[in-house]
Amino acid sequence: PHFDCSGKLALIHNGIVDNYEELGKKIRGHKLLGQTDSEIIVHLIERELTKTQNLLSAVKKVAKMTTGFNAFVVIHQDYPYLVAAKTGSPLVIGLNPGNNLVSSDVASLLSHTNKVIFLEDNQIARISPDEVRLENFSSVREIKPLVQTINWTAKSASKSGFPHFMLKEIYDQPAVLAKIAESKVKEARQLASSIAKAKNVFAVACGTASYAALAGQYLFACIAGQQVIPAIGSEFYYYDGAIGTRSLCLALSQSGETIDTLQSVSFAKSRGAKTVSLVNVQGSSLDRLSDQTILLAAGPEKAVASTKAFSAKVALLLLTASALKRKIPRAVIEIKQAVRAIRKILSPDYQKYLKKLASGFKHVHSIFILGRGISYPAALEAALKIKEVSYIHAEGFAAGELKHGVIALISQRTPCLVFAPNDETYSDVISGAMEVKARGGLIIGISHKPNPQFDYYLPVADSGNATILGNVVVAQCLAYYLAVARGLDPDMPRNLAKSVTV
Ligand code: AGP
Repeated sequence: PHFDCSGKLALIHNGIVDNYEELGKKIRGHKLLGQTDSEIIVHLIERELTKTQNLLSAVKKVAKMTTGFNAFVVIHQDYPYLVAAKTGSPLVIGLNPGNNLVSSDVASLLSHTNKVIFLEDNQIARISPDEVRLENFSSVREIKPLVQTINWTAKSASKSGFPHFMLKEIYDQPAVLAKIAESKVKEARQLASSIAKAKNVFAVACGTASYAALAGQYLFACIAGQQVIPAIGSEFYYYDGAIGTRSLCLALSQSGETIDTLQSVSFAKSRGAKTVSLVNVQGSSLDRLSDQTILLAAGPEKAVASTKAFSAKVALLLLTASALKRKIPRAVIEIKQAVRAIRKILSPDYQKYLKKLASGFKHVHSIFILGRGISYPAALEAALKIKEVSYIHAEGFAAGELKHGVIALISQRTPCLVFAPNDETYSDVISGAMEVKARGGLIIGISHKPNPQFDYYLPVADSGNATILGNVVVAQCLAYYLAVARGLDPDMPRNLAKSVTV
């Protein structure tokens, strides 16, 4: 928290105040300890309080002065309530009589309550232990809040005996996937029918979710001959000329709060496109903004590194692509096969081997990951997981690109993960592995069968179009064990936040 000059007023802030320089000029003479925009805000509120003696109006006035995407929560020794204001970043109030709460993330509230109010932009709340009063910035009239019940349990948001959330969430995957195969068929069919009607379809997302979107591109093309254009959230605007009233913008997000994804959906709406979201957090900004939402039902994901939400999105996209060709029963079987494959990966012996492998590679400088076809997004996702939690430089490549430059990076004993599933990419990706091996690289093969090119072999049973799920789980585990072997906390990677709201 940042304090005002008196030390009586404290503020927490999520976001970036774009006009902090201009606002800073208004508080000359105040005693600032640091150089953050947040501190300017608390002193501005202090200044307003001398004029109004009303904490809510003071915060409202200052919040209105700010530009950018922000959330502020303020407490003052002389006022028996908190004030929370939202201009972009997420804010959710947990209703727990006698002990109301406020947070940026619903998962953090679950051990106290599942009754919540999501603040909208330009709303401000006065939160006392027993009462919540909501207003818009533009009026002093009380607004009736929409209270939502979140159907996640407190246990699902706990580590359940695992040393880290990341590992627990990796282990959640068989259950999440089985549930999707059983319960999401109807929604997948509805989405397929919207896709079939659209002139063009964009799958918009960031980070891991964008790799799920890229996997979707391959699934839709190969299962249904349907083009789906993956677009990174921050790049979506540049497709402007192609987005219109007959476009479908399919947004993918775990948190539903990723600002680039949200802005893409708003932008698509402004062009008259239909918007559908695959989102994990019920009531999140994306859920509220989209014309239609399919909840991923993966349960709370708390580790910064996304794992089960990726699998859930890919499984849903597989069901949807299959629905376009009336092949849902086959997709359900494939997802169930993947569930069995993942259970084997999560068995104690397999995990022991992965742990040993990670410990042997914990000091390497770089790891490369190769895949072709749908294993290309798997390679990108594997690399992101390794980078995020172990801080080892990792790059995923389309194996065919090796000879176009990447191979220059291979030196003696460079570890190279190779996805070689039982599909049309097998022999070509093995050729890529041979090229790497010929230059001294070490091959860690992830495949349904051993191959003489592999220095290390990580088996993943074939599950047709769903094989990517098991392959990525192996990489998630490897990333996790690399982080632990290096003495790092995989749940709290440096410089990263769970929801990228700025
Ligand atoms: C994944 O491990 C990341 N931490 C990050 O790339 C994340 O997937 C991205 O920020 C998108 O988040 P979202 O799914 O909540 O929109």
